[in-house]
Amino acid sequence: MPAMRSRIAVLASGGGSNLQAILEHFDQLGEHRSGDVVLVASDRPGAGALNRAALRGISPAVLATTSRPEGAALEQILDKHEIDLIVLAGYLRLIPAPVVAHYRGRIVNVHPALLPAFGGPGMFGERVHRAVIESGVRVSGMTAHFVDEEYDRGRIIAQWPVPVFRGDDAATLGARVLRVEHLIYPRVVNSVASGRTTLENCALPSHDAPVDARPAFTLLEHEESRLAENIELTLGC
Ligand code: GRF
Repeated sequence: MPAMRSRIAVLASGGGSNLQAILEHFDQLGEHRSGDVVLVASDRPGAGALNRAALRGISPAVLATTSRPEGAALEQILDKHEIDLIVLAGYLRLIPAPVVAHYRGRIVNVHPALLPAFGGPGMFGERVHRAVIESGVRVSGMTAHFVDEEYDRGRIIAQWPVPVFRGDDAATLGARVLRVEHLIYPRVVNSVASGRTTLENCALPSHDAPVDARPAFTLLEHEESRLAENIELTLGC
């Protein structure tokens, strides 16, 4: 008998490349995936994510906003599709408190920096990467986290570092971070969908989990020489 899969709603305001990465990861997992994306909803009628959903035969929905009250009400559409897990992928609006309360521990988000730095209201898209570059930090990255009542503040599930290179602008840094988002976020979504990752077990670092001591950047570049080259590029102000 096939395992029960979580019914997932992806909420996106933009192009939806993380949505695409999730769909492709689920394709790769095949019968071993822990969820199905059954709904893609957006506050923006022109969002690329809605097109990607339509191409896959996934129900698209345009959500109500103050300027478009005729759109679908979030609570109702989540109920209608019997959603178990809400995945924010470039969704720019705050999730209403009643939805957060109802879905506590079952809403996740991806942010293109290492929270709690460079997050919060107004910190989205290129603004994040500009702020990172202007601050002078040498490392940025991505964060996947549970969602609570405030922007970018919920409990962290996973993070991965990305070097900031001299000469980076928001576009080059953003592209480097996005590549890592596409690797990590689908795996986080699948893990939360399976019930292996929960709000409770993310509370403390796990002491029984095996630790891989290889340097983090080697996720992308396995050879030591390539890692050394990357480090070389970050040196010298
Ligand atoms: C990503 O960088 C994500 O971290 C942020 O918004 C962007 C969405 O990109 N929350 P996409 O729409 O998935 O391409």
